[in-house]
Amino acid sequence: MAHLDLPRDIATPAYVLDETALLRNLETAARIKRETGCKILLATKAFALPAAFPLMRDVLDGTTASGEYEARLGFEEFGKEVHVYSPAYMPGEIERLTHLAKHIYFNSPEQIRRYAHIVGTAAGVKIGLRINPGFSMATLGGELYDPCAPYSRFGATADTLDEAPWEIIDILHTHALCEARNAGSVGLIEHVGRNFAPYIRRVKAVNFGGGHFINKADYDVAKLIAAIITFKNEFGVDVILEPGAGLVVDTGYLVASVLGLHHNGKDIAILDASASTHMPDVLEVPYTPLIVGAAAPGVLPHTYILGGKTCMTGDIIGEYSFKAPLQPGDKLIFTDMMQYSFVKNNTFNGVPLPDLAVLRTNGSYDVVRTYGYDEFRRRLG
Ligand SMILES: Cc1ncc(COP(=O)(O)O)c(C=O)c1O
Repeated sequence: MAHLDLPRDIATPAYVLDETALLRNLETAARIKRETGCKILLATKAFALPAAFPLMRDVLDGTTASGEYEARLGFEEFGKEVHVYSPAYMPGEIERLTHLAKHIYFNSPEQIRRYAHIVGTAAGVKIGLRINPGFSMATLGGELYDPCAPYSRFGATADTLDEAPWEIIDILHTHALCEARNAGSVGLIEHVGRNFAPYIRRVKAVNFGGGHFINKADYDVAKLIAAIITFKNEFGVDVILEPGAGLVVDTGYLVASVLGLHHNGKDIAILDASASTHMPDVLEVPYTPLIVGAAAPGVLPHTYILGGKTCMTGDIIGEYSFKAPLQPGDKLIFTDMMQYSFVKNNTFNGVPLPDLAVLRTNGSYDVVRTYGYDEFRRRLG
C-alpha cells in the first residue's frame, strides 16, 4: 500500500495526499460522467488543495463554492466552471461573484428576487434555486449533518416554490446527503423526480448536491448511474453532482509523532497532532479514525489513549492498541484524512499547523506548504 512508501524521516504533523489513491477515486467520477453524461464538480469546502487540482481538472467539470473566497479559489486555481451557493450573501458579494462564478445559487425565491437585477445584468450568469426536498437520509452525524432536519435553514421548502420566478431560474439544486451510499443517492434522485416534477420541467439542469460517497467499497456506482440515466430520460435536463468527501475519501493521511507519555489510570500518549486543532470532525461528528498498524483498545498488547497537546480536556483522538509500547518519536499514520480536515484546522493554543504534502505517483514526497509562528501571529491582528 502506498502509505508504506512514506519516507521515515518526514516532518510531522503532516497531511499527506496520496496521488495514486486520488487517481483511483477520480476514475470513479470519470466512469459516472462517461456513462451518464452528467457533470461532476469538486466541493472545495471539503477539500481545497491547489496542488491536487491539476489531476482533478482532467476529470472534473469545475468546482462548487460556499461563498466568494472559495469561488475565487476555484476561478483562479482550478479553472473550468465555478458554481456557488450560500444560504445568504454578504453585502457586495453577489456583485463580486458575477466576475468569478457563472452559476449562482440562491436559498429562496426571496433571495432570487433581491439579487436578480445584479445577476441579470452580468452576461452569461445562470441562476439556481436550492430547494429543501424534505428527504432525510444523511448517513453521518444525525441532525448535525442533515440539511432537511427540522427548521433547517437550507433551501426553499415546497410550499414556497410557486412564488419563485421560474422564468429566470436555470438550475434546481438540492443537497440532502452526507456520506450516503447508493441507496441515499438513488433515493434522493427518485424522490425529487416524484415530488418536484412541475419545477424540474421549468429548468435546464438539476444539481443533486454532495454527500454521494461514490468511492466507498459498499457504494454501488452502477445503481447511481442507472438512476441518473432514468432521470435524464424522463425530464430531458442536465444532471450535476457536487461531491467533496466522495471524491477524496481514503486518499490521504495525517502523520503524527508521539511527543510524550503519561499515565492516569490508563496509558496516555500525547501527540503533535490534535483532534481539536487538526481533525475537528473527530470531535464534531464524532468518530475515531483508523491508524495504520493499530487496532481497537485491548486487541493488541499495548493500549493507549491518544490526545493532543492543547489545554482542552476533550482533545482526545481515541483509544487504540499497538503491538509494541509507544515511544516518543514514534510516527502514527491516521488514515482517511483528506476531507474536512485541513480546510477546518486552527491554531488554538498556538499549536503548529501540519505541513501540507503530496506523495506523488513516482514515490517522491513533496511538502507543498509549511506553517510557522508567522501564520499563528498573522491571524491575531
Ligand atoms: C451545498 C453542498 N454541496 C456539496 C457538499 C459536499 O458534500 P460532501 O463533502 O459530503 O460530498 C456540501 C457539504 O456540506 C454542501 O453543503
